[in-house]
Amino acid sequence: MRLDDCHNFHDFRRMAQRRLPGPIFDYIDGAAEDETTYRRNTAAFERCDLVPNVLRGVENVDLSVTVMGQKLALPVYCSPTALQRLFHHQGERAVAAVAGKYGTLFGVSSLGTTSLEEARRLCGGGPQCYQFYFHKDRGLNRAMLERAQAAGVEVMMLTVDSITGGNRERDKRTGFSIPFRLNLGGLLQFALKPSWGIDYLIRESFRLPQLDEHVDMSGGAMSIGRYFTEMLDPAMDWEDVAEMVRLWNGRFCLKGVMSVDDARRAVDIGCSGIVLSNHGGRQLDGSRSAFDQLAEVVDAVGDRIDVMIDGGVQRGTHVLKALSLGAKAVGLGRYYLFPLAAAGQAGVERALELMRIELERDMRLMGCTSIDQLSRGNLRFR
Ligand code: LAC
Repeated sequence: MRLDDCHNFHDFRRMAQRRLPGPIFDYIDGAAEDETTYRRNTAAFERCDLVPNVLRGVENVDLSVTVMGQKLALPVYCSPTALQRLFHHQGERAVAAVAGKYGTLFGVSSLGTTSLEEARRLCGGGPQCYQFYFHKDRGLNRAMLERAQAAGVEVMMLTVDSITGGNRERDKRTGFSIPFRLNLGGLLQFALKPSWGIDYLIRESFRLPQLDEHVDMSGGAMSIGRYFTEMLDPAMDWEDVAEMVRLWNGRFCLKGVMSVDDARRAVDIGCSGIVLSNHGGRQLDGSRSAFDQLAEVVDAVGDRIDVMIDGGVQRGTHVLKALSLGAKAVGLGRYYLFPLAAAGQAGVERALELMRIELERDMRLMGCTSIDQLSRGNLRFR
């Protein structure tokens, strides 16, 4: 299978599956418990129909949006995701470079495998947000915040839906953890994909530069579930976040808000944005899809805060549906991770190019030349 054969999300996913050892593929592809929410995230878009207008003169389409004070050339951005160099040795470097090329936001993860500063350089000065996990160690939180301030990060994005590890049963079966401590079945899966293993061994060693000054990840295997459960502070509350917003003194966004009550509180403490998200279905299985929850939240706070969504987005039409309901921009996760795993930077570039082409085509077919022309009038729900 070649990159040229990849025309959509499913093709990239299949190519990634062929290249990656099973446990790593399952870490990306997997979600919590019965993976109901994961499936629902994409299915939600299918319950909503687009109603196009015609004969509007759609030669020039402008796909740009402004979100949290950042102008993005595309209404989609690369959501922060962890451990990218595990999926392909180019990791965040590839994603940052492609996001920079397409003029969109790239989210650097606290669990990123490339440093915040380097990713920032590679974006070519493009907009960037830094995804933050709130640790029990308040000194660590403070140090991470100051480092991001010194690097000149535009938007701080605090993930609030991971107060404890989601029940990811695929990872339990394979023994996925960092560094690897696989069970026998998991090890066999690695033996089946030796080219990935060789690549992993000859490249620079795997690090977590946002954390490794503070957290010893080498001592024992740390599963993502354990990291969430042992390192992050389950006592975190609105007071703590209000304090962080004050300290940051810049654009601050909460990722993983779902309820109207919480959206209102985010406004009250001075956030500039919220991302409606269920973490790709990886945390609370059975939780609602961000798309289904979007209208309610936009109606309550959309005039006071930028509302974004992520989860299950595989198509340009999914993005247009979310924008029509009032989202300011839409986050992509697995949509660029599978291409990264399949073919590194060339894969991510192809995926974003396909998305750009789809968005432009779909906007024309909808009879729209700028994102602000999309509205709920274009939608009907089944
Ligand atoms: C995950 C975290 C690390 O979903 O964001 O695996």
